[in-house]
Amino acid sequence: MLTNLIMNKKTPAVVLILVFIFSSVALAGTIVGSAHDFRGYLWNESGEICKPCHTPHNTKPLPAPLWNHEMSIATYTMYDSPTMDADVSSQPSGISKICLSCHDGTVALENYGDITSGTIYLFGENLIGTDLRNDHPISFVYDDSLAIKDGELYDPSTKLSGLVGSSGTIHDDMLFQGKMECSSCHDVHNTRAAPGTKLLVKDNSGSSLCLTCHDK
Ligand code: HEC
Ligand code: HEC
Ligand code: HEC
Ligand code: HEC
Repeated sequence: MLTNLIMNKKTPAVVLILVFIFSSVALAGTIVGSAHDFRGYLWNESGEICKPCHTPHNTKPLPAPLWNHEMSIATYTMYDSPTMDADVSSQPSGISKICLSCHDGTVALENYGDITSGTIYLFGENLIGTDLRNDHPISFVYDDSLAIKDGELYDPSTKLSGLVGSSGTIHDDMLFQGKMECSSCHDVHNTRAAPGTKLLVKDNSGSSLCLTCHDK
């Protein structure tokens, strides 16, 4: 749509100026203008927002909804520590692997759809890598028995998440098939992320995100 508008020679200049003004402003509560609005990037030939991640047809065979980005084949080094009670022995689940398909830095950003020859990779602070030992643990079951075992975690089935506009529990709102994942803390589409945060599902001032689950 936007591309069509810009390509159309009959579009009055004032409309073009308005389009550029609005497309560069981060609109609250939408993917538009967020870190995942890839329209302005040279690597995104399609000029679309959703396409690097989703497509309506010929999707990748994964649990993610209509997934279009090439998946990573990396083996990850998972977080573990002597004080962990959860079983963190398994590799990332599909729902976190789709984030890692860009954020582990092994698959080019433009490798979506039929493209496999990309050369542009995520770098800098947004690069999570394949060694996840320095990241909050993911892809493990967080249930009431883990909370009892640990002694300093809330029961996910009864503690409310406190996410804006929801009266659901941690289990309902923040876990994926009962597991802790990247999307437990992040909102990839920015639709319910706290403004001004790194796409966090909840503002972390005073560590309120952490204190949703940790009873400290
Ligand atoms: C950076 C990658 C990325 C982009 C860009 C993206 N999505 Fe998603 N989308 C995801 C992931 C990851 C999930 C899986 C659920 C989750 O993690 O929240 C998802 C889930 C969904 C779902 C199903 C669950 C839900 O949240 O309703 C729909 C529908 C969806 N996306 C639509 C869209 C549309 C429409 C666009 C473009 C406007 C878009 N997405 C752009 C990554 C993306
Ligand atoms: C198609 C590739 C792609 C996928 C898939 C993807 N990301 Fe990203 N993500 C990016 C890029 C590129 C950036 C950096 C954008 C920039 O600032 O230049 C980014 C930035 C971010 C940021 C920083 C936000 C900010 O405001 O600075 C977070 C957090 C993030 N991604 C989390 C996720 C999570 C969680 C998932 C999965 C649910 C995910 N991403 C899936 C490409 C991706
Ligand atoms: C327990 C919550 C939690 C989980 C799980 C989590 N993150 Fe984050 N993430 C955060 C917080 C909090 C920040 C913000 C740090 C800051 O602002 O200094 C962040 C920041 C980021 C950033 C921005 C760069 C940076 O370091 O500030 C990216 C990219 C990111 N996360 C991706 C991911 C991906 C991919 C996963 C899954 C592999 C993931 N996160 C899992 C809480 C989490
Ligand atoms: C959605 C729930 C949830 C959120 C939000 C969350 N955590 Fe966790 N965190 C857990 C669970 C569950 C464990 C596993 C504890 C265990 O098995 O001992 C864990 C593990 C940890 C560990 C490792 C403990 C160990 O023994 O090695 C640390 C440290 C930690 N979290 C800190 C944080 C911080 C800091 C934040 C905020 C940025 C945060 N967590 C946000 C649920 C959460």
